[in-house]
Amino acid sequence: MRVLELYSGIGGMHCALRDSDIAHEIVAAIDVNTTANKIYKHNFPETNLMDCGIESLTARQLDGMKIDMIVMSPPCQPFTRVGKKLDAEDIRTQSFLHLLSLLPRLNNCPKYILVENVKGFEESETCLKLHKTLMECNFAYQEFLLTPLQFGIPNSRLRYYLIAKKAPLKFCFENSSEILNSLPVDSALRYVPATFSSHQPTTLLKNCNKSHRSVPDVLGQDHKTENTSQTVEKSTDCTQNTYSEQDGTMGKNYDRERKNNDTRDDSQGRFTMTCTICRERCLQTSGDIMRQLSEDCDKCQCRPVMDFLEDNTPQYFDSFMLTKKDLKRFIVMDIVFPCLQKTTCFTKRYGHFMEGAGSIFQMSEKISDMEEASELKIRTLELKNRDNWSDEDYQVLLRLKLRYFTPREIANFLCFPSTYHFPKDLSRIQLYRTLGNSLNVYLVSILLQLMVKDPK
Ligand SMILES: C[S@@+](CC[C@H](N)C(=O)[O-])C[C@H]1O[C@@H](n2cnc3c(N)ncnc32)[C@H](O)[C@@H]1O
Repeated sequence: MRVLELYSGIGGMHCALRDSDIAHEIVAAIDVNTTANKIYKHNFPETNLMDCGIESLTARQLDGMKIDMIVMSPPCQPFTRVGKKLDAEDIRTQSFLHLLSLLPRLNNCPKYILVENVKGFEESETCLKLHKTLMECNFAYQEFLLTPLQFGIPNSRLRYYLIAKKAPLKFCFENSSEILNSLPVDSALRYVPATFSSHQPTTLLKNCNKSHRSVPDVLGQDHKTENTSQTVEKSTDCTQNTYSEQDGTMGKNYDRERKNNDTRDDSQGRFTMTCTICRERCLQTSGDIMRQLSEDCDKCQCRPVMDFLEDNTPQYFDSFMLTKKDLKRFIVMDIVFPCLQKTTCFTKRYGHFMEGAGSIFQMSEKISDMEEASELKIRTLELKNRDNWSDEDYQVLLRLKLRYFTPREIANFLCFPSTYHFPKDLSRIQLYRTLGNSLNVYLVSILLQLMVKDPK
């Protein structure tokens, strides 16, 4: 399969192709971002990486490449929920529209196309243009809204995906005009990470396994307490915490106290719940706090965060610790610890913006530290002037040992292979930014395989 990787960034699609069982050659990768290209080149020096605008491509050039497949993640800013949603009017959409204009003019039209974008793209005029072009070129296509959480990966990253196949080729499943929220086949696929760390079960995890009900539950994000452009009422209905509604950026890892009347424990310690992933209502056996804290059913449970952590000396993590200034944003943080099974979406603003940019990792495993911090949060929420913190307050937060996830850990959540590396001369912010723009490798590799699979 001769593949053209457009908007290649740091090569998420490249990794997904390698993970898939598709025999392929990447004919060219194209991106204009210098940092992303540097990372791409560092990992895939053999690939023909073209540092040019996609709007400069011609039909002749594409025909000359004899491409079987195009994979691409066009810029998402014109379609994001928090952006201006300028859609086709946004200058950043022009290169994609240019590409769409080329497709019907190709003599060697590719047989397969995979597109990834943010949730919101499916409602855009640009998406309609994509549909129209695909139909004109005789493609069948299927759209999805999927999150890695559905595949056992503890990271929320709800994204739009489209896979398209040119007639007379057919999908191995009955495609529909509906956007699917799950795979039409083999929906039990689960990601099994390589052992990223030798992180041992911790004190906290041991407590988790002992049905410890008293872990503070109020350290997570509270969305109605800050001056924010995205004021979101905290839900009392756990079904509203579904991936389709919140795009991961509003996760609430600590906020697990079940407020929904339907989720009471019965005499055998069981409770009913609506799984946030498959949305089925199920009776769950409680027994450990992981189960009680989780809002996902047995079938959908993700692997714990600890499976994705870097294994290194405490000194290594020193530079990732939150500063006093960062700690001031304590009440909007989504704080996670090793045995939890969900992190929020890591965006390109991670590391310099706190709210909705990605989860923060708590290194302290002492329940007493969490309880103190929990009380502090309650007190802080009641305060009018939240900048007025005492030294004692800081000490409480410092004891939590909060740090950013490292770029490697974020790459782990995105399922980049352990052989993937970053050039040493790039800053951490550059790495966070490019990783935040990237994609979940495992999820895309599944879609690639689904796309090329022939009907029986
Ligand atoms: C959403 S990111 C894609 C990320 C990529 N899939 C990855 O795994 O890193 C969009 C990329 O498109 C690139 N881009 C934006 N406009 C472009 C254009 N006109 N021509 C080429 N690349 C462009 C950006 O530099 C960015 O790396």
